[in-house]
Amino acid sequence: MRKPIIAGNWKMNNTIAATKALISDLIPLVKDAACDVVICTPYTDLATAVEMCKGTNIKVGAENVHWAEKGAFTGEISADMLVELGVEYVIIGHSERRQYFGETDATVNARVKAALAKGLKPIICVGETLEEREAGKTAEVVIRQTEGAFKDIDKAELDNIVIAYEPVWAIGTGKTATADDANDTIKVIRDTMAKLYCPKCAEDRVRIQYGGSMNPKNVKELMAMPEIDGGLIGGASLKAEDFSKVVNY
Ligand code: 13P
Repeated sequence: MRKPIIAGNWKMNNTIAATKALISDLIPLVKDAACDVVICTPYTDLATAVEMCKGTNIKVGAENVHWAEKGAFTGEISADMLVELGVEYVIIGHSERRQYFGETDATVNARVKAALAKGLKPIICVGETLEEREAGKTAEVVIRQTEGAFKDIDKAELDNIVIAYEPVWAIGTGKTATADDANDTIKVIRDTMAKLYCPKCAEDRVRIQYGGSMNPKNVKELMAMPEIDGGLIGGASLKAEDFSKVVNY
């Protein structure tokens, strides 16, 4: 019922030259994918990515967006700027933004609203740190982050939003949450969405990805879990062959 969605998060990787090489390798490898395929690239690669992915099944996303329409925000990028380029998705609230750049639940919410207002589809990231996990606070953290991100977001927007559950301790570490753990926490997020909206909305319309060292080897097991609707892939999205294996799980 919920169509799986696999997205690459390139983070701060790939020049335009590298983007051209990677996307041209990727296009034929993922053309028959059964899931939605997205690549989220640095701002400087977006125009190239959008141009190359025209007429293919690959959608393009950015890695952040500012909450203001325009103005004195040196170094930031607005939703209008992304829309004009033909960008469709945008990652919001990635743990690296929360950890290194002061992102909070309130700024995540503001960015989500700005993105939706311009027709961009947010991929909203939530997830606990190792410290929070060890303190038994995983559910508390993802509930707080989910409630914060969705404050005053209309039910009608649920089809345009993806949630990514990314335990911070599993990102770039080679450590994956066990499929059962990932499934359990995603269930907590889905239950939160059921409370915020309605059980049927959460069941039918809210797609929740897992992210954190997802790769060709573990994708099958993770995607077999009933609550996991896709993946947000970092390291393994930087190689066409690896990413295509995840997409074609
Ligand atoms: P890795 O797949 O490199 O662990 O990164 C996950 C991630 O942060 C995707 O947003």
